[in-house]
Amino acid sequence: MTILDGKQTSQNIQSEIAAEVEQIKARGEKIPHLAAILVGTDGASQTYVGSKVKACARVGFESTLITLEADCTEAELLAEVDKLNTNDEIDGFIVQLPLPNHIDEQKVIEAVNPLKDVDGFHPSNVGKMALNLPCFLPATPYGILQLLERYKVETEGKHCVVIGRSHIVGSPMSILMARNSYPGNCTVTLTHSRTRNLSEITREADILVVALGKAEFLKADMIKDGAVVVDVGITRVDDPSKERGYRIAGDVDYEQVAPKCSFITPVPGGVGPMTIASLLMNTLQAAKGKVAVHG
Ligand code: GUN
Repeated sequence: MTILDGKQTSQNIQSEIAAEVEQIKARGEKIPHLAAILVGTDGASQTYVGSKVKACARVGFESTLITLEADCTEAELLAEVDKLNTNDEIDGFIVQLPLPNHIDEQKVIEAVNPLKDVDGFHPSNVGKMALNLPCFLPATPYGILQLLERYKVETEGKHCVVIGRSHIVGSPMSILMARNSYPGNCTVTLTHSRTRNLSEITREADILVVALGKAEFLKADMIKDGAVVVDVGITRVDDPSKERGYRIAGDVDYEQVAPKCSFITPVPGGVGPMTIASLLMNTLQAAKGKVAVHG
């Protein structure tokens, strides 16, 4: 069993990006600049955005964090999006999700200039991804592809089963793994909350991407020997023995499942850090004025 070490791989990618930023600086060119909008005070969102801003500093990018009150209006948020769209200093930006209920998330996503949409959430980028055209890939799926590629995990002709159909992970993952490229060329089954006989399907999987957000959901009897398991879950589970009162659990019962796998991502230290690396890769591409070609 090989651990797909997202922490190490993310660090490698960040070193590569930092080296490229040094060259950009040496040529006297503009330093890549990522902005993030955070609405409200959700603890997990604050942590994620904080990690993204810190990662920018590590690789030498500029970053700007815009925080809005949880009760800000949709119009106020759209005005901030518009400012970033037209600010030439900003190469790419993200609006951290989820947004408060009174704000129409889709409207905000569609307000982002697709050329600065380093989250790859705009319908224009989603459509291009489906058509295998140059685009920004969403950070988590892009990070998973990088991990599979850098560990040379074989994907061609394999049965990839994705659990979860979110717009951020499951749905794009299913599209990407089916594309005619590497990683890709899989036969893909996308499963979700209405799927019948889930375990029968997961036991047929050569590659499993588990992204349903239920702590330790995937058990050993749900996979076949030698499967590749990618765990996208990051749930806070109450744990009084920890100083902060919780621990981070994946969607996979790691202790049980890992011994049966050929490759597996740990939580933490798997997919999470790769998401940050992908966002930085997208921002670098945006700064170069190029939308990345994948596959
Ligand atoms: N919330 C959970 N994942 C993401 C992400 O990748 N980007 C943004 N903007 N919000 C998120």
